[in-house]
Amino acid sequence: MAKHPTPLLDQLESGPWPSFVADLKIGAENRHKNEKGLELQIPEDVIDDLLGVLELSFKDGTTHWKHGGIVGVFGYGGGVIGRYCDQPEMFPGVAHFHTMRLNQPSGLYYTAEYLEQLCDLWDFRGSGLTNMHGSTGDIVWLGTRTEQLEEIFYELTHTYNQDLGGSGSNLRTPACCLGMSRCEFACFDAQKMCTDFTNEYQDMLHRPQFPYKFKFKFDACPNGCVAALARSDFSIVGTWKDDIQIDQEAVAAYVGGEFAPNAGAHAGRDWGKFDIQAEVIDRCPTGCMSYEGGKLTIDNKECYRCMHCINVMPRALRPGKEKGASILVGAKAPILDGAQLSSLLVPFIPAEEPFDEIKEVVENIWDWWMEEGKNRERLGETMKRLGFQKMLDACGMEADARHVQEPRTNPYIFWKEDEVPGGWDRDVEEFRKHHQR
Ligand code: HEM
Ligand code: HEM
Ligand code: SF4
Ligand code: SF4
Repeated sequence: MAKHPTPLLDQLESGPWPSFVADLKIGAENRHKNEKGLELQIPEDVIDDLLGVLELSFKDGTTHWKHGGIVGVFGYGGGVIGRYCDQPEMFPGVAHFHTMRLNQPSGLYYTAEYLEQLCDLWDFRGSGLTNMHGSTGDIVWLGTRTEQLEEIFYELTHTYNQDLGGSGSNLRTPACCLGMSRCEFACFDAQKMCTDFTNEYQDMLHRPQFPYKFKFKFDACPNGCVAALARSDFSIVGTWKDDIQIDQEAVAAYVGGEFAPNAGAHAGRDWGKFDIQAEVIDRCPTGCMSYEGGKLTIDNKECYRCMHCINVMPRALRPGKEKGASILVGAKAPILDGAQLSSLLVPFIPAEEPFDEIKEVVENIWDWWMEEGKNRERLGETMKRLGFQKMLDACGMEADARHVQEPRTNPYIFWKEDEVPGGWDRDVEEFRKHHQR
């Protein structure tokens, strides 16, 4: 018998989608049965009370978590999100309900053995509830008490060689697409770069030292499977420099209907016979493709590398061989001054280990933003306030036509004094010699 009646939540057990309510109830039941005979370190009824407080929130339409919460482990300035229930007498099981962030492996590949070990620890010292994964990428452990934090951290690091993720005004946990592990479009090893950057900048991740949060994400091609350019201050996106590789025989197989367009992604509906002209040539954003006499040609110097043709005919077209990445910076959510996608900073940069060229850009930007950024100002906002040019200067980069979608339309143009003959120091008496008042 459940500890609290949950008539509203019960309705979410119906329907075809996996129900989080049903799962929570199983979790609650398992804790009561405790088949492994664990000496549970936080209340046995933590999940019952979570269901209870959630039901109360459903009823009155408001949250029942108190404001904020500052907890953690010694040595680190982040990694744990403290939280306390605002009805601790009614729901003592969730009086403390802190979340721990665990740094996930790049690409989220696991072994059953590893996950089972983590679960054993979390069942014992936490609620057993998780989020797989947080939006930034972390394994998220939902719900434990303060006195368990160091215990868990000791066990994670000493037994499982597993660190915490980031939180606060620091480098957050980096994340990547699955890259070369199982994608033919990957232009660099996203997992390797993600892991390497995570290790290189551990200090920035664990001990907040920035004006505000800062995120890295790594997409190995412009398809953006980890959405780097919308969800990271520093977005690395794979691309290539030379020609798209064309296999004309495979093109013919698409035209002949032997290969399904988009690898069969639209098979659920009848879109008619594949029409290379309508579905590829006429959809190319730059109009740089042609298909004549059974031969596909691409004017590569006009190609944006948008991925459309490659996405439609993956067995016939491949990214070029001279691979690398673009760096885009400044993405953020609306608060304070409006949402931003990242803006192109470096059109093409090598993306081979040990990734020194990219790290140099990272560190130049940090040097600038850590000095100039205002309190709780994201990089994207610092760019707006001080100007893109200031960031280029900080990175020692020359402006390039590719830095803009369009040139400015207003004429409020600043010049540096040394660019203007005679400078700014002028004598009005000199002016008056030629122009009477
Ligand atoms: C031969 C005489 C004149 C010439 C060649 C001239 C030329 C110009 C030019 C080229 C601009 C800039 C337009 C722009 O930025 O797009 C301008 C702006 C302006 N002119 Fe004249 N102008 C003349 C006479 C006058 C006079 C007599 C007045 C006022 C009594 C005047 C008031 C203004 C004002 C207020 C602006 C600014 C408009 C704005 O900010 O959008 N101009 N003028
Ligand atoms: C109390 C009187 C005045 C006030 C408060 C005033 C205020 C201003 C302000 C705030 C601007 C905009 C500056 C900017 O965009 O940074 C401006 C621009 C301008 N004003 Fe006045 N103004 C006054 C009188 C005049 C008079 C009498 C003239 C001409 C006979 C004049 C001509 C202009 C022109 C041509 C501009 C445009 C400057 C530009 O585009 O850079 N103003 N004024
Ligand atoms: S972003 Fe590109 S390389 Fe990475 S998984 Fe997606 S399609 Fe593949
Ligand atoms: S990648 Fe995009 S821009 Fe380049 S040829 Fe293909 S469709 Fe055109």
